[in-house]
Amino acid sequence: MSTANSKRKILVTSALPYANGSLHLGHLMEYIQTDIWYRFQKAQGNECYYVCADDAHGTPIMLKAQEQGIKPEEMVAKVREERIVDFADFFIEFDNYHSTHSDENQELASLIYNKLNDAGFIAKRSISQLFDPEKQMFLPDRFVKGTCPKCKADDQNGDNCDKCGATYTPTDLLNPKSVISGATPVLRDSEHYFFDLPKFEPMLKEWLHSGSIQTEMANKLAEWFEQGLQQWDISRDAPYFGFEIPNAPGKYFYVWLDAPIGYMASFKNLCDKQGINFDEFWSADSDAELYHFIGKDIIYFHSLFWPAMLEGANFRKPTNVFAHGFVTVNGEKMSKSRGTFIKARTYLDHLNPEYLRYYFASKLNSGITDLDLNLDDFGQKVNSDLIGKVVNIASRCAGFIKKRFDSKLSSNIDAPELLADFQNAKASIAQSFEQREFAKAVRDIMALADKANKYIDDKAPWVSAKDENLQQQTHDVCSMGIHLFRILMTYLKPVLPGMAKEVEAFLNTELTWHSIDDTLVDHDINKFKALMQRVDMEKVEKMVEDSKESLAAAAPAPTGPLADEPLADEIEFGDFAKVDLRIAKIIKAEHVEGAEKLLKFQLDIGGETRQIFSGIKAAYSPEDLEGKLTVVVANLKPRKMRFGMSEGMILAAGPGGKDLWILEPHEGAQPGMRVM
Ligand code: MSP
Ligand code: ZN
Repeated sequence: MSTANSKRKILVTSALPYANGSLHLGHLMEYIQTDIWYRFQKAQGNECYYVCADDAHGTPIMLKAQEQGIKPEEMVAKVREERIVDFADFFIEFDNYHSTHSDENQELASLIYNKLNDAGFIAKRSISQLFDPEKQMFLPDRFVKGTCPKCKADDQNGDNCDKCGATYTPTDLLNPKSVISGATPVLRDSEHYFFDLPKFEPMLKEWLHSGSIQTEMANKLAEWFEQGLQQWDISRDAPYFGFEIPNAPGKYFYVWLDAPIGYMASFKNLCDKQGINFDEFWSADSDAELYHFIGKDIIYFHSLFWPAMLEGANFRKPTNVFAHGFVTVNGEKMSKSRGTFIKARTYLDHLNPEYLRYYFASKLNSGITDLDLNLDDFGQKVNSDLIGKVVNIASRCAGFIKKRFDSKLSSNIDAPELLADFQNAKASIAQSFEQREFAKAVRDIMALADKANKYIDDKAPWVSAKDENLQQQTHDVCSMGIHLFRILMTYLKPVLPGMAKEVEAFLNTELTWHSIDDTLVDHDINKFKALMQRVDMEKVEKMVEDSKESLAAAAPAPTGPLADEPLADEIEFGDFAKVDLRIAKIIKAEHVEGAEKLLKFQLDIGGETRQIFSGIKAAYSPEDLEGKLTVVVANLKPRKMRFGMSEGMILAAGPGGKDLWILEPHEGAQPGMRVM
């Protein structure tokens, strides 16, 4: 499929970001991944389009706009303005960025619904749901809170309990309250519309085997088939920000029905502007390719509902769906309190967007494992690869060419074999990009950069430059360095489009995939300007600081002991006395093979040794703990864990992860003493 002479028709999408907040670095990973792939396809000469849109509908967006006292349309417009600039500044090059709240989308959503309805794939039935009598609206699961029916923990969500992990429906909650008004919801019946997903099971099973679907996705799908597919509730009652269902007054399409149709709508809008043939890409017999880049959290929608809707409405199905993992920062979930929930704009205020494009590319592959943005590694990798290796080649050669050789490259090729190496890497680098193995592509490109640097080191033009008799050699070697640099930058162009553009000005030529085999002999180049600054770690720190500030500004975070958790319910002294807290001495602390968070302890609790596992690995090195005193719950029922029995619990305070502190009693306390 990837042969250079057959021009492919490809439509690529990224998930449509909800229009109720700023873009952050997690989002950006997806758009950068898609954009690199898209630019690569265009560089191959394929006819490729990249469309996206705001996902404008749904309850959260409606309520957020209400909170701000504006119409949802206004909020969506405001968010759009901000993110269009963010995207552009990260060199995300959509052919079109539309909105799901658009005429095209309303038409297509109605069309698809009508076709599904005509074909008998829509069922109606009445369901009972919690209704907020004050706000006069039905409450989605996450807008109801109450007491867990199982463990009786307060303030639990409508669908599952944080404390005991039970799952249930909001109607099972004890003392349910509407999150919006605080009112006690009542049960009310309403007619809902359902999409008959189970009818599509055979087709979905076949679709699953039709392409080279990711293994992880195939496994998930298999699991879902095993559990049995359910009819999908696609309607919501007014008030709802969305499209009214045809011939169903007061009923609206659930946001996830019209969201993927937004891909089509954005493309339709592009077709109308540019005279592209929409049907060539979407008709059932289309020979164009269609790919959706998405996060692993929304696989269900894209690999079950969406292909089924398309099939049922007689459109083509996606050629493939490419899911990716989630971005973590410094090994943990992005966190507002740690300053690692970094908004696109905050990043841009401090750092060059191409650092991030490069770093993500250097870690991305075709799987769905999470990707860690380790900020130290980020600085080191960008500095060592891009500045130390790639830019270094040009900066070591360019000066001589300008000063001594009138900015003209030599007519000789000094190292034809090395040049051939660089050119011959083309097919395998292209294959890596095609397969979304960007990390491999980057590794291979950097291996070439190492070779180029070694060549220059060996030839040391700065030495030959001092010798009048070696001028030709100096010219040839420096020109050779530039030839190699040009090829490297051509390979990197999908990743670093901004820098590539500056290199094009410097080299006075366009960097194209098919010109890799040409060489710039006797070619005039321009003045070399610094192409990229080193990553300044102080700026990275500043960015993290600012990410903390922007949160504080948005909603003053409480500080002090009750910052993170409300006080638990009052208890009797007798309840407290049941907990036997003891001073313990840490005799031994060690890592547990295969455990991400746990350390294993041997504790002396006064003549008795206990083994306890504790999830404080991110906060402490075991060797620092040995010999210390701490406090444990000594009468906790022993628990069998994956790595062995845990006979008690070490007390620690803090939000978690690195920020966790065990209690350290003063000397004088002795192992075994009771803590009261
Ligand atoms: N609106 C839906 C998508 C509808 S597509 C028809 C949605 N929006 S979102 O704003 O929550 O997420 C947009 C994309 O960003 C999703 O693919 C999601 O997986 C991705 N990411 C959001 N946070 C992310 C990380 N921390 N890391 C990587 N991707 C993440 O879902
Ligand atoms: Zn519970």
